[in-house]
Amino acid sequence: MGRYQEMYERSLRDPEGFWGKAAQALEWYEPWEKVLDRDARPVPRWFTGGMFNTCHNALDRHVEAGRGEQVALIHDSPVTDSKRQYSYRELRDEVARFAGVLRDLGVEKGDRVLIYMPMIPEAAIAMLATARLGAIHSVVFGGFAANELATRVNDAEPRVIVSASCGIEPNRIVEYKPLLDEAIEIATHKPQHCVIYQRPQASADMIEGRDVDWTQRMAQAQAADCVPVLATDPLYILYTSGTTGQPKGVVRDNGGHAVAMHWSMKHIYNVEAGDVYWAASDVGWVVGHSYIVYGPLLAGCTTIMYEGKPVGTPDPGAFWRVISEYGVKVLFTAPTAFRAIKKEDPEGAYLQQYDLSCMQALFLAGERCDPDTLRWAEEKLDKPVIDHWWQTETGWAIAANPLGIEPLPVKAGSPMVPMPGHDVRILDDEGNEMVAGEMGNIVIRLPLPPSCLPTLWNNDQRFIDSYLAKYPGYYLTGDAGYRDEDGYLWIMSRTDDVINVAGHRLSTGAMEEVLACHSDVAECAVIGVADDLKGQLPLGLVVLKAGAEKEGEALCRELVGLVREQIGPVAAFKLVTVVKRLPKTRSGKILRGTMVKIADCAEWKMPATIDDPAILDEITEALRLLGYAGGR
Ligand code: COA
Ligand code: AMP
Repeated sequence: MGRYQEMYERSLRDPEGFWGKAAQALEWYEPWEKVLDRDARPVPRWFTGGMFNTCHNALDRHVEAGRGEQVALIHDSPVTDSKRQYSYRELRDEVARFAGVLRDLGVEKGDRVLIYMPMIPEAAIAMLATARLGAIHSVVFGGFAANELATRVNDAEPRVIVSASCGIEPNRIVEYKPLLDEAIEIATHKPQHCVIYQRPQASADMIEGRDVDWTQRMAQAQAADCVPVLATDPLYILYTSGTTGQPKGVVRDNGGHAVAMHWSMKHIYNVEAGDVYWAASDVGWVVGHSYIVYGPLLAGCTTIMYEGKPVGTPDPGAFWRVISEYGVKVLFTAPTAFRAIKKEDPEGAYLQQYDLSCMQALFLAGERCDPDTLRWAEEKLDKPVIDHWWQTETGWAIAANPLGIEPLPVKAGSPMVPMPGHDVRILDDEGNEMVAGEMGNIVIRLPLPPSCLPTLWNNDQRFIDSYLAKYPGYYLTGDAGYRDEDGYLWIMSRTDDVINVAGHRLSTGAMEEVLACHSDVAECAVIGVADDLKGQLPLGLVVLKAGAEKEGEALCRELVGLVREQIGPVAAFKLVTVVKRLPKTRSGKILRGTMVKIADCAEWKMPATIDDPAILDEITEALRLLGYAGGR
């Protein structure tokens, strides 16, 4: 039996022994009473009774162990033409001081702090400072609009919001403060204070009494110490798309999360303290939480925060420059980033300009990795390229190639094998296990390993309904796929209304809710269609009310604007068309899946339950005019 197989089986046979040993690598104020409390509800909990602080383990522990002068964080920002570095000691001191700022504003253990920031070190500092106080952060991605921000403010009920005057996109400056003010205006919950980091590219107007200036407050603040919390206390809430417009508030605990993060750095990514690790993502997504901030810092690595794009800032050599300049050992990004580079530099000419000998491997996740992109990256980089599969809900890889345990042979298109603690099964709709090669619902048998969500914020019932109810004793991933004869997993599609646009998880249901609000729209459907660059793109089909005031292009432009305004530019909603009717089953369910297949020119069968088959001809024609269904 190989080393991976032995470890994997041991993790399932003896989770207490496996994770109890892993947890000893971190520092605890009080040891846990139970490694795994199997009686906890709604799901078993890790390290119950243990007292812990994530910030202490990510920063202070390293300074105390003599790692204080090592670079902890590098900010590389081609969009502002600037670079900054923090040693572990400097980062600990900044974080402790900002924790003092938050404490002066009344933030205590258990309070929520919402963070709406661009990719600047202050975002990571705010996250770690919140964790230092035992408070709970909730980071909201900068590409979301005021309305989405307001939904999260209402759900998380933050005492304080931390933001910046602006974010910088290659083609424009995104002023955050007007969006934040609008969100607070719409929200029913009002934060007591907002801390605003003023960037030179835009100056934010401050609201007296509520808003305070980051720099001024930092100059006056005293450092705050770490506050011990229970291992099971929440570290953060991260909202992610579900099937409706109301996002799910994924809760992450302190102890289990840190143990899984720390373990994964060595065993999956094969990096150690002192190595340079770069996740080219955004702190607003789970990849940013896990592998820009917590994972690398818990492991004592140097982490890179990159404020730029894979192309255009300034060219498709941007990633290679960063790797060679800082000696990056592992790069982690989304396949979309590589598709963008490949499109602009198919021969890899920019690669030739840089020395990438420091690089050990490339990890890809966030969306299905098409074999072409994987092979292109392998060939051009001449390094292992590893697709791995995970979700906001788990916080780390469910399946991967564990480079630090034992590199396994790659199969292009598969994110490889289940990681320790993940007892992955493939079930049919009745709950029977499928045989190798047969597609089904991918589930994980309880208990989930450390770091996986214990619930949704303030909503145990939604957690149970969304993830546990369908197959008692199992967690429903929402993905469909199969396991092959060699035990490799193949993740083929979602089983819900979630789509993946440029590695960003979005809800078509949420977009439908926005379109349905337009006074001229009688009904609508949003589907995810295949896109060569972004993996998927949302496409809207709307049916007008009788006597609609607007129609045609004018209406479509308005609908595109509406989704951008309500959800945000990140939705990349640009395709919409007016149709006479939507195809439905006899019971009235819209046949979204069939429309996706028609749009993507995939094989499809006429659904037996369809109400009126002729509608599909009209839909095919409408999709062709948009460049889909073979109309390109
Ligand atoms: N704040 C404000 N707006 C943002 C934003 C942010 N943080 N991030 C993205 N946007 C905007 C973009 O400016 C763009 O607006 P536009 O419609 O006015 O052009 C829109 O949201 C869509 O953004 P994006 O999907 O990033 O598309 P793009 O065309 O700007 O860039 C890629 C294309 C491929 C370069 C880019 O998607 C990319 O780097 N993808 C990598 C994927 C990734 O990192 N995923 C994270 C999960 S691992
Ligand atoms: P997110 O929660 O934003 O990380 O998105 C998680 C979803 O993205 C998963 O449920 C999958 O649908 C998809 N996904 C992530 N990584 C992969 C991968 N390596 N292969 C296929 N799909 C993936």
